[in-house]
Amino acid sequence: MNRRSFFKGVSTSAAGALAAAAFHSNALARAPAAAAAVTGRAADTVARDEDFWMNIRHAFTVDRNMVNLNNGGVSPSPKIVMDTEVRYLEVENLSPSYYMWNVLDPGIETVRRRLARMFGCDPEEVAITRNASEGLEIVQQGMELRRGDEVLTTNQDYPRMITTWQQRERRDGIVLKQLKFPVPPPSMDYLVKLFEDAITPRTKVIHICHMTNRTGQIFPVRKICELGRAHSIEVIVDGAHAFAQFPFQQSDLGCDYYGTSLHKWVLAPIGTGMLYVKRSKIEKIWPLMAAPPEMNSNIRKFEEIGTHPASQRNAITEALNFHDSIGGERKAERFRYLRKRWSNQLRDLPGVKILNSEDPEQSCAIGFVSVDGFDAPKLQNYLWTKHRIWTVAIVTPDEYQGLRITPNVYTTLEEIDTFAEVMTRVIRSGSIPA
Ligand SMILES: Cc1ncc(COP(=O)(O)O)c(C=O)c1O
Repeated sequence: MNRRSFFKGVSTSAAGALAAAAFHSNALARAPAAAAAVTGRAADTVARDEDFWMNIRHAFTVDRNMVNLNNGGVSPSPKIVMDTEVRYLEVENLSPSYYMWNVLDPGIETVRRRLARMFGCDPEEVAITRNASEGLEIVQQGMELRRGDEVLTTNQDYPRMITTWQQRERRDGIVLKQLKFPVPPPSMDYLVKLFEDAITPRTKVIHICHMTNRTGQIFPVRKICELGRAHSIEVIVDGAHAFAQFPFQQSDLGCDYYGTSLHKWVLAPIGTGMLYVKRSKIEKIWPLMAAPPEMNSNIRKFEEIGTHPASQRNAITEALNFHDSIGGERKAERFRYLRKRWSNQLRDLPGVKILNSEDPEQSCAIGFVSVDGFDAPKLQNYLWTKHRIWTVAIVTPDEYQGLRITPNVYTTLEEIDTFAEVMTRVIRSGSIPA
């Protein structure tokens, strides 16, 4: 797109924002200015407003010379979040035992309140963790289970979470059952029935992803939680990919345990996560690192991890501000738009299978493309070494393999089209060039 055609499609309000933002020497002001200019416009219209998203991109210091389509692994923070983190780091280093413990640590309560507001729960139900793994393992390892008790999950759940249950199999004699499902599945109800049919009198836990890290399949969390409740089965929800990728609240899910990363879709500093535990359930979950008995029913018992930096955690608030300034609905619409843009260019090419669902209830930013006869790790390597397009190859043994594609709020249409063009050329040529 040349400069003239770039500006031709500019809506009057967004053009105003762009002009205003251009006068800010500080690029940080661009995101709020862009957001103010689109107030009141439908999210699906804003999803296609490149001026709005270009201003969002300018809030990031990402490498402009690579196309990062693996934001699913971990995401960069906007500069304002990074700067906030660095500022806190400098403060805590002034004299850590004073500044970190007395000045910065109390700020964690603001973070807790803000996260609780976004998730729609009581702050006393929110623990701040180092990542989703820590939050989920607190529940997985801290739940009392007896020899022979069964845990149901899928073979497409996150490997570390599966490893955790497998360690409990070795240590405590529990039994892990991993269910398989086709991608995309025929329906959300199919996924509910998958679990319903697998329940036995020994089933004590169901462990599901809100959204899988493979094809980005969204699970019917509410119905599975209801199923669990009806059978007195605990349901643990892995929300690493869902929180802040698309809008929802705890009451939409009706879950009792929800663990998520904050360094993925919230765009918070790397090394941040959140664990929600329903108030009535806190007492019976043992923390991963020991806490005194007076803390038994205090959510903060899960944060008793020894000395750790306040700088990362305290900067979460700034990431939540940034998220709010874009708006959850706009983000989700933009993500669906970007996913469709590349997948529509590829889906009819020979051998291509798009394995994410097309149903907006079942998919958002994450897309998955498989090409018959193409080895996914080799394709990933070719895209990176020859075109500086960064993706991730995912192989589900004996089922499917392909590339997971995850853009972010700073991704441009030019980047999406570059990926689609390179893929089209390679697929049409019939093999991955040497
Ligand atoms: C579905 C899922 N669960 C858990 C995790 C672990 O997240 P973290 O790296 O924040 O511990 C990931 C990470 O990619 C994930 O995709």
